[in-house]
Amino acid sequence: MNVVTVKNYHQLSVQAAQLVTDQIAKKRNTVLGLATGQTPVGMYRELVQKFQQGEIDFSQVVTFNLDEYYGLSPEHPQSYHYFMWHTFFRYINIPTENIHLLNGTAEDITGECQRYEDLIQQKGGIDLQILGIGDNGHLGFNEPAIGLNSKTHLVNLSEETIQANSKYFNTIGEVPRQALTMGIGTIMNAEKIILLASGLKKAHVIARTIHGKVSTEVPATVLQLHQDVTIIIDQEAASEF
Ligand code: F6R
Repeated sequence: MNVVTVKNYHQLSVQAAQLVTDQIAKKRNTVLGLATGQTPVGMYRELVQKFQQGEIDFSQVVTFNLDEYYGLSPEHPQSYHYFMWHTFFRYINIPTENIHLLNGTAEDITGECQRYEDLIQQKGGIDLQILGIGDNGHLGFNEPAIGLNSKTHLVNLSEETIQANSKYFNTIGEVPRQALTMGIGTIMNAEKIILLASGLKKAHVIARTIHGKVSTEVPATVLQLHQDVTIIIDQEAASEF
């Protein structure tokens, strides 16, 4: 794993955006795997700025998001559909048909997960996957104790994740208890992976991800087995390893 420690969140966002820009410059029809959450927001802001300055062209880029809450429609303000459109997609020149997210309200959930896997294959696989990391080491919504070979599936969220995500909802009772997520196997099939982490509250899990034994207890440790992972962390997130 290539670990890059930068001074602060701003530097993390700049570096991550630069790696995405370099990837798209190399391959215009890059297939990007994207994450939501707080961590990549600065990277999306930097990418939008680069687009506005003519430094990056998304017209052939294809995207697949990692996950979506089960039961939330794309219009729901806390859905990951909504987040992606309002944080990123609406500001860039990516064609709508190139944007892929899981449908959290699909009637046939197994069919929806298979559709997503098939589509990723059809597009040639993910060239570059962006990841954040949960305080408990989850990737996407692959919570501890999930098989390390899984494909896209429906998961029960852990109490820790429900608590962490409750800040986005009016009450904890409104937080969905389940989600659809790419599996660890899906993530590990990406050609390249960039994991981002910022702040003291990620320091412990980052230390375990880099130095800990590979185990389902901290799903992110599986990244030690991937051949092209870059971890970009700020000094606070790097403070325990
Ligand atoms: C989001 C996702 C999650 C987050 C993780 C960290 O699509 O897949 O794994 O990356 O929960 O969230 P933040 O960045 O808010 O700390």
